[in-house]
This record gives sequence, structure tokens and C-alpha cells, in this order.
Amino acid sequence: MQVALREIGNCVIRRCDLSDLISTMEINLKTLPEHYSDYFYESLLAELPEAFLVAEVDKKLVGYIMCKIEYGFSNFKKLGFVKKGHVVSVAVLPEHRRKGIGEGLVLEAIGGVKLKKSDELYLEVRCSNSDAVKLYEKLGFIIKQRLKAYYRDGEDAYLMAIEFAY
Ligand code: ACO
Ligand code: ZN
Repeated sequence: MQVALREIGNCVIRRCDLSDLISTMEINLKTLPEHYSDYFYESLLAELPEAFLVAEVDKKLVGYIMCKIEYGFSNFKKLGFVKKGHVVSVAVLPEHRRKGIGEGLVLEAIGGVKLKKSDELYLEVRCSNSDAVKLYEKLGFIIKQRLKAYYRDGEDAYLMAIEFAY
């Protein structure tokens, strides 16, 4: 049983449990063309439970966000080598969108990667995915690069990132 990190109406955002992974994978299959192996979900949950979160309404999962921590070149500093959170995937079921759940998931994931003292958080998003781009911009992410043919179907991605101060 995980504690509620945030409540948005009747929706609770909390950390993911192992027993939530099947539902999380189902939401991913319904909402995004990028899919992952069960092993990948398990390893993200084991490595960064602070930023693998789910959104629950009436005991059913309606959204998730999962992240990892990486070490690499800064998206902000010219010569910096930094600890970066990476949003691997976030999604909310269509019938639960536009209620602030996606925003709540990203905000709590920011809190999770900050617990691990990350300097930055970044993600890739399809250039055509204006809903998601708007969400990230609302929360302070900045478009840092355009990644040519990043997706399997050839579409470009924006690399978006946010920098933290402690
Ligand atoms: N139209 C315009 N702006 C939007 C829309 C929309 N349809 N959806 C979200 N936004 C923006 C708005 O700025 C909104 O703030 P506002 O309500 O004050 O205007 C802000 O995002 C927050 O909206 P939420 O209600 O919190 O977002 P929601 O719960 O609907 O989830 C999400 C957004 C996750 C992008 C959802 O649309 C979704 O699951 N899409 C399919 C999966 C997806 O594209 N995931 C992201 C891929 S990139 C990645 O995973 C790293
Ligand atoms: Zn990525």
C-alpha cells in the first residue's frame, strides 16, 4: 500500500507497486506507440520508485509516469556533466484527460527525481504531440533540440528539459 502523494478530485497519485505493472502496461498499450518489455518496467520500478508513479480513480489505474536517472552532458550548461532524470513515458487514459492528472504526474515525478538530487529532468516528445508539449511547457520545460527521425516511423522528437535549483 502506497501513500497518496497528491489528490486531484477523486484521483490519487501514488508510487507504483509491482502489482500495478500489468495495468500500467495496458495503459501504455492503449495510449502510445512506444512499448517496452515487462523486464524494462520492472527494472525502472526497482531503480527509481520515487519517480515511477500511478494515478488511480475508484481503485483503477488511469495513468502512469516512469523515469530513470542518467549521468551525462547537461542540456543547459556548456561543459557540465550532470545527474539527469529522464521521463521515459507518461500517459493518461483518454476518458480521464484534461482534469490535471497528467500535470500532477509530471509534478510528482519532478519531486521524485529531486529527492535523488537530479540537476535536470528531460524527455523526448513527438513534434506533432502538441497536447504533451503544452503540458511540459506549462511546467517549465524548454525545447532544447529537435531530434531528426527519432521515432521508428521517422517522426522527429523535441528534446525538452527543465533545470533544478536547490
Ligand atoms: N489541448 C491543449 N492543451 C492541453 C491538452 C489538450 N488536449 N492536454 C493537455 N494540455 C496542456 C494544457 O496546458 C493543460 O493545462 P490546462 O488544463 O491548465 O490548460 C496541461 O497540459 C495539463 O493538462 P492535464 O489535464 O494535466 O493533462 P492530461 O491529464 O490530459 O494528460 C497527456 C496529458 C499525458 C499528454 C495525455 O494527453 C496523454 O496521455 N496523451 C497520450 C500519451 C502521450 O502523448 N504521452 C506523452 C508522450 S511523451 C513522453 O512520454 C515523454
Ligand atoms: Zn526518452
